[in-house]
Amino acid sequence: MFPKINPTTTQAWLLLKKHYQEDMQRTKVKDLFKNDADRFKNFSITLNSIVFDYSKNIITPKTIQLLQQLAEECKVKDGINAMFSGEIINETEQRSVLHTALRNFSGQPVMSEGKDVMPDVKKVLEQMKNFCASIHSGEWKGYTGKKIKYIVNIGIGGSDLGPVMVTEALKPYWVDGIETYFVSNVDGTHIAETLKKVTAEETLFLIASKTFTTQETMTNAHTARNWFLEAAKDESQVAKHFAALSTNEKEVTKFGIDPANMFAFWDWVGGRYSLWSAIGLSIALTVGYDNFESLLKGAYAVDEHFKTTAFDKNIPVIMALVGLWYTNFFGAQTEAILPYDQYMHRFPAYFQQGNMESNGKYVDRNGNEVNYSTGPVIWGEPGTNGQHAFYQLIHQGTVLIPCDFIAPAISHNPIGDHHVKLLSNFFAQTEALMNGKTEAEVKEELVKAGKSEEEIKKLLPFKVFKGNKPTNSILVKEITPESLGSLIALYEHKIFVQGVIWNIFTFDQWGVELGKQLAGKILPELENEDVIASHDSSTNGLINLYKQMR
Ligand code: F6P
Repeated sequence: MFPKINPTTTQAWLLLKKHYQEDMQRTKVKDLFKNDADRFKNFSITLNSIVFDYSKNIITPKTIQLLQQLAEECKVKDGINAMFSGEIINETEQRSVLHTALRNFSGQPVMSEGKDVMPDVKKVLEQMKNFCASIHSGEWKGYTGKKIKYIVNIGIGGSDLGPVMVTEALKPYWVDGIETYFVSNVDGTHIAETLKKVTAEETLFLIASKTFTTQETMTNAHTARNWFLEAAKDESQVAKHFAALSTNEKEVTKFGIDPANMFAFWDWVGGRYSLWSAIGLSIALTVGYDNFESLLKGAYAVDEHFKTTAFDKNIPVIMALVGLWYTNFFGAQTEAILPYDQYMHRFPAYFQQGNMESNGKYVDRNGNEVNYSTGPVIWGEPGTNGQHAFYQLIHQGTVLIPCDFIAPAISHNPIGDHHVKLLSNFFAQTEALMNGKTEAEVKEELVKAGKSEEEIKKLLPFKVFKGNKPTNSILVKEITPESLGSLIALYEHKIFVQGVIWNIFTFDQWGVELGKQLAGKILPELENEDVIASHDSSTNGLINLYKQMR
C-alpha cells in the first residue's frame, strides 16, 4: 500500500509556497511568453490526436519541477502502481479500483483479491457484443414481433451521466433506427415525458444500477414496468423488454428481470467510473459495439501513457499538478471545463460528478481533518454559449477560475464558416484571458473611436482587463469514439493523482449516503396526514405546510 503523506509536510510544499510568494504571485504569463520563444513547445504534450497545451498557465520550469517533486514525495508513482495492480486502495469500502481493467487490451491478467478479473470482463463484453448484434439486426423482437427501436436507460449518477455524456458526444455515430433516452430524476416528470416519446412494443428498458437499490432508479424502473404491462398485459413479456446492468443479481431477480438479461459488473468498478463496464450497454446499443470498443481503446491508450510516461511528459499528471498549484497556492476554489463542441455539452456535468464526488473530502486517508484545500468546484458549458453568459466573471470578476478549453479541429458538421468562427473564439478567448487589456490599449481604442478626453477618463477603468487568467487548451483532431475515450481517461487520472497528493480516498462517497438515509426517514412522514414534530422547527414547518398545500 502506498504511504499516507500529508502533502503540507513535504519539502516540495514549502518550496512551492516560497516560490509562489517570491517568484510567481506577481508574474505575468504574457511576459513569460516574451522571454521564451519556445514556451509553447516546452509546455505542451501531444498524445496521438490530442494536443495538451498548458503554456498559458502561471508557471515556469521551476514551478513544474517543484510540482513534480511534490508528486514524487507524495508517492504518486506508488499510487498509480497500487491502483493498476488491484490493491485495495478504496479502503473505506475495502475495494480495489480497477475501471482500467475494463479497457485492458494488453492481454495481461489483472488481479483483484488474488483472482484475475479479465476472464469475467471479456465474458461480459462478449455478452454485450452479442446482445447489440441481436438488437441491431432485428433478431431480438418485442412482444408484438417488432424490432426494438427505443432504448430507455434508467439510472442516476454514475449509472446515467457517463452514458448520457458519451451518447451525446458521439451523436454522429448513432446506429440508424435506434433512438436512446435517459431517465434519471425521481421527479415523475422525467419518466412521464420520456414515455410519451416511445412505444411499449418497441422499447427496451435498461435498468442501470450498481446496487439495484437506489431509490430514484427503482422507482422509475417500477413505473416503467407498470406502464409496459398496461400495454403488454402479460408478465412473461417483461423479459423481452427489460435488461439489468448491475452487480446485484439477487435484487435483479427480485425485480423480475431474467438473470439471462443481466449484464454484470463488479464492486471494483466505482459508479462514476463505470461507463466502461456493462453500464456502457446503452452506449454500445446507441453507437454500435465496435464504436464502444474504440472508446475503450482510446482510454486504454491513455492508461498506458499514464502508467509508463515520466511525470514531466505525462498529461494527466501535469493536469493534476497545474490544477493543484492554483487550488493550494493561489487559493482558487473552482475550475471550469469549456468544450467548444456542441456534442460535448454534458462533458462538464459528467466531470462535475467525477471530480466533486471523488475529491470533495475533508478527511485524509489517516482519518484526520485536512489543513489544506481539496477538490475544487467544477462546472462549465459549451463555447461559445458560455461567452455570452458567464465569461464576464472569468475575465473581470474577483474570483480566479482556471479553465480548460477543449476543441476539435474537424467538425462533424462542416457547414459554411461555422467551425472556423467557433475555433476563432476558442483561440481568442485563451489569448484574451492571458493578455487582458491595458490602460494604454483601452485609451488608444477610445481615441480611435473618437471619444473625448472627458469620456475616455470616465470609461477607462471599466474597460481594463487585468488578464493573467490561466487556461489549458486541449486541441483534438476530431471527436471520435477513440479520442473521446482518451479525453475521459485523461480527466479520470487527473482526479486520481490529485486525490493521492491530497491524501484523500478518491473512490468512496459517504457524503452522498447521508442524503439517502435522511430522505428515507422523511418519506413515511409524508405518507400520512399527521402533524410532524420530530425535526427542527424549519423542517417541521415546511413539511406541515406542504401537507396543507397538496
Ligand atoms: O450518487 C451516489 C451514487 O452512489 C453514485 O456514486 C452512483 O453513481 C449513483 O449513486 C448511482 O448508484 P447505483 O448505480 O447503485 O444506482
